[in-house]
Amino acid sequence: MPIGATLHHLHLSSPQPAQLAQFYARAFGFEAQLHGAEWVCRTAGRRIVFSPGPAHQIRHIAFAFPNAAALAAYAARVGSGEAAPASALIGAAAMSFVDPDGNRVVFIAADSDTGATAAHPALPQAVSQHLALRTTQPDALFAFYQDKLAFALSDRVLDDQDTLRACFLRTDEMHHALALFRSPETRFDHQSFETTGWQAMRDWADHMGREYVPIVWGIGRHGPGNDTFFMVQDPDGNLGEISCDLEVCAAGRVAGVWPHAQHTLNLWGNAIMRS
Ligand SMILES: [Fe+2]
Repeated sequence: MPIGATLHHLHLSSPQPAQLAQFYARAFGFEAQLHGAEWVCRTAGRRIVFSPGPAHQIRHIAFAFPNAAALAAYAARVGSGEAAPASALIGAAAMSFVDPDGNRVVFIAADSDTGATAAHPALPQAVSQHLALRTTQPDALFAFYQDKLAFALSDRVLDDQDTLRACFLRTDEMHHALALFRSPETRFDHQSFETTGWQAMRDWADHMGREYVPIVWGIGRHGPGNDTFFMVQDPDGNLGEISCDLEVCAAGRVAGVWPHAQHTLNLWGNAIMRS
């Protein structure tokens, strides 16, 4: 049974955090504010934090439970981890774990988040929904997230030698909150903002066009998750995704296996292959 948390925010490091904050404000409609050394970008249902450091690296990934009681129940299930880092969007009730690649995963109670902002007046609703990581050791990361943190496996991508090339894990009924891709690099790959449907996808694409932010992949449809998507690229080269219609998994859904091929990652055409 999925743990019942949802992606709350990412904190990424960047050699140019102000430029990233500016880009996400322009492309994705965030309000960006500087808090100490952190650029906090927020709008209704979505948040990202940037602070100085190397490109493409995770400072932390934050998942939120609906309330402190649900967070405590999860702690009873998986252990109470370590203290969470001090950061603008993390309240007192929080705990964290570090995955085998050194990415810190923080769990918080959503009701401790008191700084909600209004929705962008001209853009369709879209919520922080999933992220993807590139890793040289997907088996170790998969084991950590499934066995230690109790994320549920939705689908795996295996090559002809049965080597794990990618996997998709969920924390609630949505097909994946976390995707892991085998790659020669250990780095952040992308985050996705899930919008409400095809009309909204079109409106987001029109918005990107008006802002001269080119679509670098898509529009397409992923095999695992069956979501329609397009991706743009931020000034550091991180991908940002707008998606819709991600599969809602029924209880007891059997994990699937997909071949390692472009068609798996985009049923409508070419794919960005991470290895
Ligand atoms: Fe995605």
